[in-house]
Amino acid sequence: MSTPSPPFPSPAPPPGITRGALIVLEGLDRAGKTTQVSLLSSRLTSLSRATKTLTFPDRTTPIGGLINSYLTSQTTMSDHAIHLLFSANRWEAAAKITSLLAAGTTVVCDRYYYSGIVYSAAKRNPGLDLAWARAPEVGLPRPDLVLFLDLDEEQAKQRGGWGVEVYERGEMQKRVRELFWGLSMGKIGTEAGGEGEVAVGPPTPERVTGLERRFREEEEDLHVIDASPSVEEVAEEVWRVVKARVEAVERGEVGAVVRRVS
Ligand code: TMP
Repeated sequence: MSTPSPPFPSPAPPPGITRGALIVLEGLDRAGKTTQVSLLSSRLTSLSRATKTLTFPDRTTPIGGLINSYLTSQTTMSDHAIHLLFSANRWEAAAKITSLLAAGTTVVCDRYYYSGIVYSAAKRNPGLDLAWARAPEVGLPRPDLVLFLDLDEEQAKQRGGWGVEVYERGEMQKRVRELFWGLSMGKIGTEAGGEGEVAVGPPTPERVTGLERRFREEEEDLHVIDASPSVEEVAEEVWRVVKARVEAVERGEVGAVVRRVS
């Protein structure tokens, strides 16, 4: 029997490059994430690095169209169903991402599975906690670095507040922010009052928690960046962290094979 050829055949990476790095930018609405993704991609390209930018959700696919209908309140869906569609929208791109990285291309993602698990868990649906939310992401290409552009509610409001999509509400954004902080420290606890999952640590003071769970890969990969300074200052900080990581990946310090979420 012949072996099927991969859907995205990857050319060998250029000499001296082991593989490309998967870099993810995450952030609350108004944190300047999309601007920073674009500045970062331009900077990488200007240094003659093969670079590809991807955006999640990718609203251009049929699954992305369903997600768009949900986000713009044209369709309602259960929390679990929309969660799995967001995940499927990443799985649609998984082979392409793997192939790009293997060919030595740096892939920059505007959101990825971190948004996937955090936004769904922030809904406080008792049947959809972070662990449940993370399960369908297992096996996706694991990012080499995830930057969370952090901005508090007041600063977001000063920048014009949020838009009209379903998650762009104060309470939701506050919880999303807490969960990102928790993941950056690898620690998520359950609230004493039983209200669901909370970050153990900043931005709110440590609270008494019940069960504490650790998220080791996320703790390793996620880095918080203060998004309150000027666009240029944030871009410099993003570049400082990304440059070091991209170079380490290219030198082979993070392994020759694309890592998987496990
Ligand atoms: P956007 O504003 O960056 O296009 O993202 C759309 C919204 O979708 C945003 O509120 C975050 C949310 N989201 C999820 O809930 N799950 C996901 O997996 C992704 C990628 C985004």
